[in-house]
Amino acid sequence: MSAIESNSGEFAGKRALVTGGTRGIGAAVVRGLLDAGAEVLTTARSATGTAPEGATFVAADVRTQAGAQALSTAAREVLGGVDILVHNAGGAAPYLGALAIPDEVWQDALDLNFLAAVRLDALLAPGMRERGSGMIVHISSAAVPTVAPPFLHYTTAKAALENYSRGLAAELAPFGIRVNTVSPGRTATPGGEATREQWARLTEGPGQDNTSPPLGRDGHPDDIANAVLFVVSDRASWLTGSSLVVDGGEFPRG
Ligand SMILES: NC(=O)c1ccc[n+]([C@@H]2O[C@H](COP(=O)([O-])OP(=O)(O)OC[C@H]3O[C@@H](n4cnc5c(N)ncnc54)[C@H](OP(=O)(O)O)[C@@H]3O)[C@@H](O)[C@H]2O)c1
Repeated sequence: MSAIESNSGEFAGKRALVTGGTRGIGAAVVRGLLDAGAEVLTTARSATGTAPEGATFVAADVRTQAGAQALSTAAREVLGGVDILVHNAGGAAPYLGALAIPDEVWQDALDLNFLAAVRLDALLAPGMRERGSGMIVHISSAAVPTVAPPFLHYTTAKAALENYSRGLAAELAPFGIRVNTVSPGRTATPGGEATREQWARLTEGPGQDNTSPPLGRDGHPDDIANAVLFVVSDRASWLTGSSLVVDGGEFPRG
């Protein structure tokens, strides 16, 4: 079993906003930041899952401009500003081939996995620029290069997110703001399991390759949270515009 590794008090005095922090990878990131001393605001559409104790929860749908505005206002009122921004909310249901993906599903995938980050960055990065520091992490997916047809809406949106992140990193580096993506592989989370079950039902079989990644097991949310905590820490102070793939070796990138 993985565990969160960070230096105690490493994020003392830091204010963090994590989207999708009520379960899975987002909840692990919230716990890790809290344990290391940060003040954390998190969001989901509902509090059905619960945000880790110690975090402030605000209900918002990050797919909409109104949701981004509500979060930005809450960040100002609750935290007084944001030093660490982690865009984690994401996901998409599988379809039987790219041509079967309806228009509204494409739009939803782009809103949740790409434009939500663009909108929130536009609202919160200016404050970081004024202060001359900030860390932004966008959660992508290790599966981006596979361009698998059942998930083409999802991997296309995540590919856009990675491209955008590199451009934003270049633009914001002179202001002391670092922007990186962390790309998980198959990770045991409620969302990940639900997607794999949907795929199995759709194909009336296991559908996806059920063999373990080369390192012999699926990821635990803490595996991904550890990577995020490293990326936003001062230990990664020379890291920007990069994509850190954390997938047990399943999807090597050139
Ligand atoms: N698990 C994997 O195998 C895997 C692999 C590659 C990449 N990823 C990526 O890792 C990230 C986290 O995945 P996960 O598996 O931990 O997901 P998860 O278990 O489904 O949790 C998703 C979180 O995001 C929230 N959320 C979903 N839609 C939202 C919306 N429109 N507005 C605000 N909050 C929203 C959910 O709460 P509500 O539903 O209440 O809104 C929940 O807190 C995603 O970006 C995903 O694409 C995961």
